[in-house]
Amino acid sequence: MSTLNPILNPRVIVIGVSGQVGFHLQAVLNHEAVFLDRAQINLNNIDLCIKSLDACLFQYSRSVRWLVLAAAYTQVDLAETFAEEALRVNGEAPGVLGLWAKKNNIKFIYYSTDYVFNGLGILPFKEEDAHEPINVYGKSKSMGEKQLVKSGCYGFCLRTSWVYSEHGKNFVKTILKLLKEREKPLTIIQDQVGAPTYALDLALATKFLIHKVDAVSLSKGQSYFLNNECFQTYHFTNQGEISWYDFACAIKAEALNLGLPINRDLDIQPIFSHQYKTAAQRPMNSRLSLKKWQNHFPEFPIQPWKQQLQKCMRLLCN
Ligand SMILES: NC(=O)c1ccc[n+]([C@@H]2O[C@H](COP(=O)([O-])OP(=O)(O)OC[C@H]3O[C@@H](n4cnc5c(N)ncnc54)[C@H](OP(=O)(O)O)[C@@H]3O)[C@@H](O)[C@H]2O)c1
Repeated sequence: MSTLNPILNPRVIVIGVSGQVGFHLQAVLNHEAVFLDRAQINLNNIDLCIKSLDACLFQYSRSVRWLVLAAAYTQVDLAETFAEEALRVNGEAPGVLGLWAKKNNIKFIYYSTDYVFNGLGILPFKEEDAHEPINVYGKSKSMGEKQLVKSGCYGFCLRTSWVYSEHGKNFVKTILKLLKEREKPLTIIQDQVGAPTYALDLALATKFLIHKVDAVSLSKGQSYFLNNECFQTYHFTNQGEISWYDFACAIKAEALNLGLPINRDLDIQPIFSHQYKTAAQRPMNSRLSLKKWQNHFPEFPIQPWKQQLQKCMRLLCN
């Protein structure tokens, strides 16, 4: 099979290169990985996916040690209508890929979401808290996590929230567009709280884990996962907690700071969730506890959300 970037000895296969996280993985993993898009791996057809991965492995058999799944059915509202597809892509496919990874002695990185939880309360959810999704997307991602654990493959699940990037569709770009084009005040939800996550940070965390695990194997000749559960979950977002309303105001403030051509008089007004109906119910509490990551990996500090927003918006200006 042909890949987007034929290279000599990749240690990673990345699926989902056209998404936000996939875009940054390309920059961060660069010559360490081969990158596959939907034309090469369509998670809707899992049998064909496995054939494509077998071909990829055959081409690079001596070097590939990791599979990173950055592709997913991410359209939260549409998932309510196309539940079967969302469950197939996010729920079933990761499990089959996990079995393939286990069979081929390849470690797996999967991205999940705070939507696996029920969004109740005001405390941050911990990694081991029970899943209780309140919409189809959350249900499908929860199923993906569980299928991966069941597959017995080794690797990591990075649970994250509110992902944005200079690439792709996301809240930051939507608000900027509205600040440029809209004339009536913007109304944004104030009672859903979580942490924004710059996709670049997720890509860097992914590279960090890959290098950390491989370094242990190389230096000690043993597995990083010895005496541990083989598939480990970590929460990973940027630091802090805000509402969507706070986030929108911060985007406007930074746009003004950068001198972007927005309507500076456009008002942003806070509203409650019940005033903005969507097909899929959203969690009120998207807080994810970062303590496990911070305790295990102090050498990879979590960055504050505002600083990372500013970094991304400076790039959006160019
Ligand atoms: N975005 C968030 O706020 C958020 C929050 C929590 C967790 N996550 C998780 O983080 C991961 C990365 O998210 P993201 O924001 O980077 O997603 P994204 O920008 O929406 O990109 C999704 C990617 O999945 C691909 N894809 C969708 N359906 C596919 C299929 N049937 N077969 C193959 N590829 C398919 C898309 O390809 P096309 O470009 O061809 O459509 C695209 O490359 C996902 O697992 C997501 O569930 C995201």
